[in-house]
Amino acid sequence: MLIALRIALYIQVLLGLGRFFGLVPNQRIWETHISLGVVIAVLSLLALGPHPRLRPDPMRTAARFMPLVTLLWGLAMWQDLLVGQTMTMIHMLLGLISVGLVERAAAQQKRALAGR
Ligand code: HEM
Repeated sequence: MLIALRIALYIQVLLGLGRFFGLVPNQRIWETHISLGVVIAVLSLLALGPHPRLRPDPMRTAARFMPLVTLLWGLAMWQDLLVGQTMTMIHMLLGLISVGLVERAAAQQKRALAGR
């Protein structure tokens, strides 16, 4: 499940950066960013929950919830509750922080479960 989450996040980065730089004009393709966003938020909630073989880790909890925060921010942009370039940049930053946190949590889980 973690690998699916990581792949989905990288597709999301590509779509987001592509849109930001005007490379994704097709609305159908762009709307994937919203549906994929929901998938990402659900996957991270499921995949990064407490694990019997891992010690509780606040950074893992941050990785679990940051995509949801990014999604809620994005949905507020979509509903025109958050407007303007600065709001979009904050959203992009939240998205990139999500990628970093999920990468860290995935690597840490892999190491711990391999017994290293
Ligand atoms: C957890 C990851 C992410 C989620 C859940 C997410 C979700 C969303 C949602 C729901 C919207 C509103 C859609 C709309 O206005 O049509 C949005 C807009 C946007 N997202 Fe993301 N996003 C994520 C990551 C990213 C990343 C990493 C980037 C770029 C680095 C990015 C760039 C953008 C841009 C530029 C917009 C606004 C585009 C526009 O208004 O034309 N997103 N995102």
